Amino acid sequence: MAVLVLGGAGYIGSHTVYELIDAGRDVVVADNLMTGFRAAVHPKARFYQVDIRNRGEIDALFEKESIEGVIHFAASSQVGESMTDPLKYYDNNLSGTLVLLQSMVAHGVDKIVFSSSAATYGEPEQIPILESDRTQPTNCYGETKLAVERMMSWTSEAHGLRYVALRYFNACGAHPTAAIGEAHEPETHLIPLIFQVPAGRRGKVYIFGDDYPTRDGTCVRDYIHVTDLAQAHILALDYLMGGGRSDVFNLGNGVGFTVKEVIETVRTVTGCPIPAEIAPRRGGDPAQLVASSEKARRVLGWKPQYADMKAIIATAWEWHKSHPDGFGAQNQ
Ligand code: UFG
Repeated sequence: MAVLVLGGAGYIGSHTVYELIDAGRDVVVADNLMTGFRAAVHPKARFYQVDIRNRGEIDALFEKESIEGVIHFAASSQVGESMTDPLKYYDNNLSGTLVLLQSMVAHGVDKIVFSSSAATYGEPEQIPILESDRTQPTNCYGETKLAVERMMSWTSEAHGLRYVALRYFNACGAHPTAAIGEAHEPETHLIPLIFQVPAGRRGKVYIFGDDYPTRDGTCVRDYIHVTDLAQAHILALDYLMGGGRSDVFNLGNGVGFTVKEVIETVRTVTGCPIPAEIAPRRGGDPAQLVASSEKARRVLGWKPQYADMKAIIATAWEWHKSHPDGFGAQNQ
């Protein structure tokens, strides 16, 4: 029996596939390559170019492969774009998952690990954030992730499907071998944008706001290494296979770093001065997002390995040095 990874050519999906294969699992990857990269897919995974919104394609996959559980990353994930093109997010994230769940129910596939987000909370009620805290998304991306969680919950009651929703905080870093790493087109995330300076692709970085109520005025985020996230997906799948009930878990380090602290860490790791300029706040950015992941540690037995920001940044730097154009030419 195989594990089906939807969106397995994307950033977190591709790292999860590497961990699954290292753990000796049989892996099928499906991705429409809208934002994912064929070159990011582990050579030992069976790859299908499939769009989850296409019921025929998904049905054919479940009929061809014997699937024991699904890990679902396939989604659009840019917060800013979700505000200017919300229907794209309803279509890809919500309708796509609707079709997927219909096909899973029809084929008796009853376990799914879903890639959710800290964006489901919106402006936090307290720090660190608990899974039981209020969910009131401030952007359409978070809204669609929360809607999928609810859709899975109702489907679970009606059809016995079981799910784990993993609410990630800020994913970062790269595979320790630097075989795969973080690449988005266009890039909007802080850490890969900072690396474009030592890579010679931009002259400086912009800090979006320095008047937040934080220790240095810049936003605080909880940065969690992508390999640690990947391990959590495997634990969540095993939890469901062991009969675990449907649930929601935060995944973060529990430690917050400001934008200025992240830039300073990249300066230390790379030895590059990295000029930074203060720019206006970016709309919809909460001042602080820090997770309590105590529940994932207790229930899933999750033990993140990368606690240190410098170590996380060092893995990302190895990837960016060896792949200055991301998957670039490799993907042609
Ligand atoms: N930032 C800058 N300059 C930049 C880019 C980002 O100062 O050029 C700041 C942002 O304002 C934010 C922090 O760096 O304060 C981190 O920004 P990212 O865009 O890297 O990440 P976000 O915290 O906005 O987003 C992450 C995930 C989303 C998820 C969100 C939850 O990438 O998928 O957390 O709120 F929805």
